[in-house]
Amino acid sequence: MNDNLHQLRCFGCGARISGSEARPDFRCANCGDLFEVEYPGWLSRQGHDRPNPGALKWLWRERRCSSETLDQSGVWRFRELLPILNNFGNAVTLLEGNTPLYPLPRAARALGIDQLFAKHQGMNPTGSFKDTGMTAALSVARERSFEWVACASTGNTSAAMAAYAARAGLRSLVLIPEGKIAWGKLSQAMDYGAVTCQLKTDFDGCVKVLAQIVQEAPIYLLNSVNPYRLEGQKTPAFEIAEAFDWNVPDHLIVPGGNLANSSALGKGFRELRELGLVARMPRISVIQAEGANPLVQSFAKFQGEKIEPVEAHTRASAIRIGNPASWRKAAQAVKETGGWCLDVTETEIAIAKAELGAEGLGCEPASAVTLGGLKKLRADGKIAPAETVVLLLTGHTLKDADYTINFHRGTLLEQREASGHEQAIDALRRDAVSVDATPAAVLAAMKDAAL
Ligand code: F0G
Repeated sequence: MNDNLHQLRCFGCGARISGSEARPDFRCANCGDLFEVEYPGWLSRQGHDRPNPGALKWLWRERRCSSETLDQSGVWRFRELLPILNNFGNAVTLLEGNTPLYPLPRAARALGIDQLFAKHQGMNPTGSFKDTGMTAALSVARERSFEWVACASTGNTSAAMAAYAARAGLRSLVLIPEGKIAWGKLSQAMDYGAVTCQLKTDFDGCVKVLAQIVQEAPIYLLNSVNPYRLEGQKTPAFEIAEAFDWNVPDHLIVPGGNLANSSALGKGFRELRELGLVARMPRISVIQAEGANPLVQSFAKFQGEKIEPVEAHTRASAIRIGNPASWRKAAQAVKETGGWCLDVTETEIAIAKAELGAEGLGCEPASAVTLGGLKKLRADGKIAPAETVVLLLTGHTLKDADYTINFHRGTLLEQREASGHEQAIDALRRDAVSVDATPAAVLAAMKDAAL
């Protein structure tokens, strides 16, 4: 039996092609826009490939107790909604997904909302949400017999790609902006055996170089222009819906960089609604760093219809992206769900990250924009106290330990950035202290900290 039920549809001009017809750069030959995966058998209510909602909800839950490898993956557990492979036996998995949904009672209390949760995608095998997309797209690469896979990255995509390629026995090529990614992520690409090239440019420059390379050599591109990445990255939407017993939360808040994740989650919830698994979609809001906010500017100037690239600057290096590939898809998700797109300052990111840390939930700076954004939305009256809100945390705190240590040592922010926020920052800072190796000195340090 062939498990493959998909085709590709251009997001710009609507042209439809089969999966095998996609160009190496995954751009539409007619208009240059990106493709998205669609499943024609789902389109009509009588379509015989159209999944049965009740049966699926039961099956997916049952699989959580299964000992089959594919069932243990939080992506492939939902494989009926991503039939992209000829044979699911070709899936390359590290048992990604099934990530925790944590309540955030302290932040909820401070913000005056009843129900606040963090869906922690940093709890994936390589420490970021990229694993869910990589298991899907790398499996396609393996099924199509590629020997090499490649990506340009701010660090997490490359870590995920290198790991999944290693599992599949494929070679991987990583292009990263020199000196601009966190050490934790660079170390992963090295450890998983990628050919890692640091280019003297930014992320957007790496993307350009790679687009040329894949035209010249048989290398499978695994950046999020690859529509199969988004098929994996839509599955946290299914997990969230399932966790709320198929009553979706009111609001989902997602960081925005290259804008694939918000696009994918939008697609996931849209498909659940279209197939009758949920009654509505949550609002989806996208939060960017102030210095890397092309989508925010696009909404402010062009109602999300057009984008102008920016030169990106932020310490949240994962989202230091000025020319996001999936902006059109993300704008659609925000618009159709009635969400918002806004930005937060470097100081707001640092404080939000430390607040999440103080609740026992570390995350990357790029993930903390979600809490920073929530505070602004709440202050603007855009979120009511009775609403249920989920923050999507995208990366593990250990990815960028330097950032965290600098914050707690007081060396992260410049004086002008900290100015006016000293009280909030001081309340959160926990620098390590040097003490004599005696019980009395340690007890004295505890006493000092309690003051
Ligand atoms: N958070 C983290 C931790 C990320 O690594 C990224 C993107 C994002 C948020 C933004 O997601 O791009 O889908 O809007 N990281 C990329 C990378 C681009 O190369 O690892 P997005």
